[in-house]
Amino acid sequence: MQDDLFKRLISHCKVYGFIYPSSEVYDGLSGVYDYGPMGAELKSNIKEFWWKAMVQMNENIVGLDSAIFMHPKIWKASGHVDAFNDPLVDNKDSKKRYRADQLIEGEIEKLEKKIEKEVEKARKRFDSFDEDLFRRTNERVMGWAKRAEEIGQQLAAALSANDMAGLKGMIDELEIADPESGSRNWTEVRQFNLMFSTQMSNVAGEEGKLYLRPETAQGIFVNFDNVQKTTRQKIPFGIAQIGKAFRNEIVARQFIFRMREFEQMEMQFFIRPGTEMEWYAHWKAKRMAWHRLVSPEAKLRFKDHEALAHYANAALDIEFEFPFGFKELEGVHSRTDFDLGNHQSLSGKNLQYFDPEEKESYVPYVVETSIGVDRMFLAVLSAALEEEVVPDAKGEDSTRTVLRIPPALAPVKCAVLPIVRNKPELVDKAREIFNRLKPYFQCQYDEKDAIGRRYRRQDAVGTPYCITIDFETMENDTVTIRERDSMQQERIPVDRVLDIVREKTDIHRLLEQLS
Ligand code: GAP
Repeated sequence: MQDDLFKRLISHCKVYGFIYPSSEVYDGLSGVYDYGPMGAELKSNIKEFWWKAMVQMNENIVGLDSAIFMHPKIWKASGHVDAFNDPLVDNKDSKKRYRADQLIEGEIEKLEKKIEKEVEKARKRFDSFDEDLFRRTNERVMGWAKRAEEIGQQLAAALSANDMAGLKGMIDELEIADPESGSRNWTEVRQFNLMFSTQMSNVAGEEGKLYLRPETAQGIFVNFDNVQKTTRQKIPFGIAQIGKAFRNEIVARQFIFRMREFEQMEMQFFIRPGTEMEWYAHWKAKRMAWHRLVSPEAKLRFKDHEALAHYANAALDIEFEFPFGFKELEGVHSRTDFDLGNHQSLSGKNLQYFDPEEKESYVPYVVETSIGVDRMFLAVLSAALEEEVVPDAKGEDSTRTVLRIPPALAPVKCAVLPIVRNKPELVDKAREIFNRLKPYFQCQYDEKDAIGRRYRRQDAVGTPYCITIDFETMENDTVTIRERDSMQQERIPVDRVLDIVREKTDIHRLLEQLS
């Protein structure tokens, strides 16, 4: 069922101009995607919603747009040259390449699926079913849950100890087979660095080796001093930026969930050492509040990291229930003074901050919030896509596909539709209304096909409002406004259209709820 939703979503994205495979005329490029006309609008609205929530709504957060290319020493200092690796394993028979940790996680997922199946079976058997009690007392379920937990702990320990032999041992012990060929003939597990590199034209050899940034965060760290001095911000303050990041993912999969070129929205919040847990809790709550404005609460949850990244002393994910299960959407990380401290050591520049209140200098600690634009895009679309049976113009059942995108994020806010196209006075009036609306938000004018088909086309791209110009319009200067989700139509005066649509689709109404 969920698999089916995911397939429909991918195909819907292509058919309606949200997302195309990159370089499709050359059969595509794995892990890389292009955003079509609808996708570009939705993506830009997501970025605007994030930017305004972070920069505009917080007087102690300022924006930045740093370059993708940076001095190669930055990636040495940040730990990415030495530690930004994934454990890779090849199958000798199929020649397929996998992430060892994901193969092992697959075994945990299998156990979780078994548990779910058993729970569902029991639910059907008993009239008043207490799921919690069943999970705590059923021996089979308890056994699988215990095994899943043990595997998870062993995996976390091997990952944080960089124990490649330990991972290989687990693959052998669990008798994991290649998901495609069934073969258990594996190579040793080895580390694979995820950074893409290129060469500067005027410097030969290693010195001229540049990396495509794997996160936007480092551009913020190395500009900390510039930004602090030029904005005269006092700690605590944050720097936010949106930009492309690149990772040579071993297995790029699940559509735009794991890409090789993607976009991040990151904010580094600079604080006094010792206050990091307070700010970590603060940003954890703030970011979840932002998500809840546009995503169903039941699809969101927190998950603490079991294995901490090389730079963090506390970390969690905000997970979203994608069609393939709960997965990371955003990370909140307490990064200590790891990055600034290392940049200070390697560059020899003083990156300390003089705290006028504490009357002392220190290298600030950092709490980071980091979300992928593309993952947010996937979250919004997967929660929005629905197929439902509704009555058609003749009152008969028909299926409509609707994208229930929150109106403030919808690519097109309003469509203007003359009921017929062979009456010049209706067409002129519709054009006049369209011209009046278009300076304020994305609008579409459409006169082709029967009105019912035009409504369905707008439903499929998530347009929250359709304005229809009909014969009555010519008599009393009113139009109908149709709401996407309820399909209810109401008659309103032409001179109210702009205010009504603007009010209902305004991103600032969402932001007000964050105050
Ligand atoms: N600066 C910290 C950092 O980059 P991360 O957990 O590696 O942390 C942050 O990445 C976010 O970036 C993730 O939560 C996810 O939304 C997004 N992201 C990471 N890798 C991605 C990929 N290969 N494709 C799409 N989005 C990705």
